[in-house]
Amino acid sequence: MSPELPHRYPQAQIDALYRAIRERRDMRHFLPDAVDPALLERLLQAAHHAPSVGFMQPWRFLRISDRALRQRIHALVDQERIATAEALGQREDEFMRLKVEGILDCGEVLVAALMDRREPHVFGRRTMPQMDLASLACALQNMWLAARAEGLGMGWVSLFDPVALAQLLGMPIGAEPVAVLCLGHVPAFYDKPMLEQQQWATRRALDELVFENHWPDGEGTST
Ligand SMILES: Cc1cc2nc3c(=O)[nH]c(=O)nc-3n(C[C@H](O)[C@H](O)[C@H](O)COP(=O)(O)O)c2cc1C
Repeated sequence: MSPELPHRYPQAQIDALYRAIRERRDMRHFLPDAVDPALLERLLQAAHHAPSVGFMQPWRFLRISDRALRQRIHALVDQERIATAEALGQREDEFMRLKVEGILDCGEVLVAALMDRREPHVFGRRTMPQMDLASLACALQNMWLAARAEGLGMGWVSLFDPVALAQLLGMPIGAEPVAVLCLGHVPAFYDKPMLEQQQWATRRALDELVFENHWPDGEGTST
C-alpha cells in the first residue's frame, strides 16, 4: 500500500502542473500583440523563484525595448543560423527550411545572461562551475512553464556568438548571454515539438535513457 502523502496538492492542481509540463512548447510563431507588463512581471518572478547552486541567483535579464537593438540581435542570430547550416553538412538545406526563432515577430524579447564575477561562488561549483548555467536553465524552465499556463508562448534561441551579443548589450567582462527569449501571444501552440513536426528529430523512448546501477555495456547510448 502506498504511504499517505499529507503534503500533496489537490488532484486538479497536480493535473494542471503536469499539463503545463506536457504542453509547453518552444515557440517560433507569434502574434505581434504586446505582453501585459503585469504578466511579464509574473513570469520574471517565476524565473526568480528557481533553485540555484549555493542560492547564488546567477540570472540576469535584459528587456530589449529598443526596436533597432532587437533588429541587431536578429542579425546576429541570422549570421549564426547560416554558420550552423554550413556546419551541418548534409542536413544544411533541411536546417535552412526550419524556423528557428521569432525575434522580429514576438511581443517581447529578453536576453537571459549569467552575471559577471561568478568565481567567488564555490558552494556547489568548485568541481562543476557549469552549475551556474544549470541554475539559469532552471529559471528559464520556470518561466517557460508559467508562460504556457498563462497562455503565452516562449522560444529559447541560442544561435548567436555570445561574445558579439555581450558586446552589443554592453555587458561587463565575465557576464555571458545564454538565451535570447522570444515571448508573446501565439496563434496556437504546436501539439508536438516543432522539430518533431518537421521530422528533424523524434522523442526517444524513456527506457532507452534510464539505467540501473551501471552504464549499459555496448557501443554507447547516443543513437
Ligand atoms: C538550451 C536550449 C537552447 C535552444 N535553442 C534553440 C534555438 O536556438 N532555436 C530553436 O528553434 N530552438 C531552440 N531550442 C528549443 C528546442 O529546439 C526545443 O526545446 C526542442 O525541439 C523540443 O521542443 P519543445 O521545447 O517544443 O518540447 C532550445 C532549447 C534549449 C533547451
